[in-house]
Amino acid sequence: MTVMTSWILLWLCLAALMTHRCNGGNDVLGLDIPTEPNLDPNTVCKTYPDLTAKQYSLCSRYPDVTASAIQGIQVAIHECQRQFKTHRWNCSALERKNKNPHSSPFLARGYKETAFAYAILAAGVVTQVARACSLGKLESCGCQPVLNHATNQWQWKGCDHNVEFGNAFGRKFLDSEDRAKDFMSKVNRHNNKVGRMTVFENLRKMCKRHGMSGSCEMKTCWRAAPQFHVVGEVLKQKYLQASKVQMINTNSASGRVRLRLVYKKKRRKRPSKSSLVFYETSPNFCEDSSWLDSPGTRGRYCNKTSTDIDNCETLCCGRGYNTLKVTRVERCNCRFHWCCYVVCKKCLISDWVTVCK
Ligand SMILES: *[C@@H]1O[C@H](CO)[C@@H](O)[C@H](O)[C@H]1NC(C)=O
Ligand SMILES: *[C@@H]1O[C@H](CO)[C@@H](O)[C@H](O)[C@H]1NC(C)=O
Repeated sequence: MTVMTSWILLWLCLAALMTHRCNGGNDVLGLDIPTEPNLDPNTVCKTYPDLTAKQYSLCSRYPDVTASAIQGIQVAIHECQRQFKTHRWNCSALERKNKNPHSSPFLARGYKETAFAYAILAAGVVTQVARACSLGKLESCGCQPVLNHATNQWQWKGCDHNVEFGNAFGRKFLDSEDRAKDFMSKVNRHNNKVGRMTVFENLRKMCKRHGMSGSCEMKTCWRAAPQFHVVGEVLKQKYLQASKVQMINTNSASGRVRLRLVYKKKRRKRPSKSSLVFYETSPNFCEDSSWLDSPGTRGRYCNKTSTDIDNCETLCCGRGYNTLKVTRVERCNCRFHWCCYVVCKKCLISDWVTVCK
């Protein structure tokens, strides 16, 4: 290696260090993130089951964005399980291998839980697409600095559009399968929108310092999608306060369907734009019912002493429970070694658990 190349390398390293310091630990917009391998439409669109024709064509045009959307759906299902882990309906049925959660018979119902599922899946898509955008991983959306031709300097443009982009894509991707004018589609679109809005209602502010050759004299801030567990918690509250709606028939030739709250008979109020809506009373979710894609509560862990809904009486629907001893492996006696790793032992831990009959 010539002296010249080593100097160039050294200079590049210093530049990288400067940029890093400029970021102030905030690496969300890191420019040094390697670009993802090119996502090919065939691998993305053909492996995800049950895409509608419209979703498929959207996927063919934007395979990278669609891959993030699908990832968002996975994130949403996990958060849904977290939010409902003590409920009889625990959201696990939406996570079937090689199944599209939107084709689950459960999502063809009108329960409160269905409303929650639509909303959180829609919110997951917005969040994950927005995140991928602000990481600069999407061809059609990113937050890179742009060259200002007047001054010939790189300028940071921020990336306030990242959530807008996620929102627009999410709307195209999920509402497209529900364009129909019937009541059920209208309810689903409403709940999708509540999910997307929940992301907007909880945006966080992110900032990045930058400047010419690491001078850091400029600061650009933008709004970013919230941590997803925040969205999950807000939507759980909305689930608890969901409004029951009914269809009112309009005689108009347009065939438009309107949603009206069930209780407000006199004034036929519209449901609020930010509340989840449902139109069917939930079953008790006690028994396995395949037509509903709901496994029932046999085999669920319950809590003998809890006064909440996970107590054995409630969770097991009065069928009683078995007490079993289970052994699990855990990491224990962990020790921190300088620098920087942790060594743990494996311990066998035995617990008595109560399991629904
Ligand atoms: C949800 O319930 C099913 C069966 O009722 C059970 O197999 C599954 O482990 C539960 N999921 C979680 C996350 O607790
Ligand atoms: C059961 O519920 C009690 C009371 O809420 C709680 O203190 C305890 O940690 C729970 N046990 C388990 C195993 O979750």
